[in-house]
Amino acid sequence: MNQRPQVYVTRLIPEAGLTMIRDRCDARVWEEELPPPKDVILEQVSDCEGLLCLLSEDVDGEVMDAGDLRVISQFAVGVDNIDLEAATQRGIPVGHTPGVLTDATADLTFALLMAAARRIPEAIDKVRSGEWRTWEPRGLLGADVWQATLGIVGLGRIGTAVARRARGFEMDILYNDPNRSIEVEEELGIVYASLDTLLERADFVTVHTPLVDETRHLIDRAALQRMKPTAVLVNAARGGIVETDALVEALEEGWIAQAALDVTDPEPLPADHPLVGMANCIVVPHIGSATTTARNRMAEMAAENLLAGLAGRTLPYCANPQVYESETR
Ligand code: GLV
Repeated sequence: MNQRPQVYVTRLIPEAGLTMIRDRCDARVWEEELPPPKDVILEQVSDCEGLLCLLSEDVDGEVMDAGDLRVISQFAVGVDNIDLEAATQRGIPVGHTPGVLTDATADLTFALLMAAARRIPEAIDKVRSGEWRTWEPRGLLGADVWQATLGIVGLGRIGTAVARRARGFEMDILYNDPNRSIEVEEELGIVYASLDTLLERADFVTVHTPLVDETRHLIDRAALQRMKPTAVLVNAARGGIVETDALVEALEEGWIAQAALDVTDPEPLPADHPLVGMANCIVVPHIGSATTTARNRMAEMAAENLLAGLAGRTLPYCANPQVYESETR
């Protein structure tokens, strides 16, 4: 690189990564709280070789064609907001941040599961509102997590980390995934099940698949109707995996007992959306990876990917490795 490359960064990511980028590039950073509108992105990338974006940005062929991008670096592990096929066709490598947010997201999954099981938000409200006046033998009774049956949908890095935590609670663990892993089954004592069986048997269902065509609305009305009326659904992956309208109906009609969501569709939900106001639904604002350590490491990885792409090196964490075989390069 003779000249410092121009890059566009669509939000203030942690300093650990921004410093690495600013040291080597002329970086323009969108410093607002809300994502840059599409027309701003199109204008900003027009003279850029690199784009560092978040999961809130829709990065399609139009964005890719608006500049002369040599790399797109996503500050997240999931890349469903980026048209990977369009990037590959154009010879643009896409970076992401796998691994470093696995444990933070698994912790949050468990926090949601336990908060729902033990009705923690309701309990907090009761104390804050002054309604709690004495110890209640019949008050705020929840469900046992210990020795309950957990159904893990998607046994990737995060699903496996959730299984590890569940072992500490002596849970019976079922999982469903397109790829069966005998090794993990043996190591963690978990059992493969069809999705239908998992939904029928689990007391807690946690969702960890990526959002792709095959998983969009995987948890639809039929799936929710299969679950136990006492079951809790936890989604810490992507909102689009669960059919939102069906979930509202499921919680209203008692097909399932509770839901706890780190992600929603749409995201964010409007404040007056039924899911936000329901006593049997917990919604938190997509904070799965929101620990200082995970976010710092994500920023560094996103910067490493960006700088590698600008230097013409293979991205260390690439979401479309087929780009390196593509003839268009
Ligand atoms: C967060 O949801 C991520 O994909 O990193």
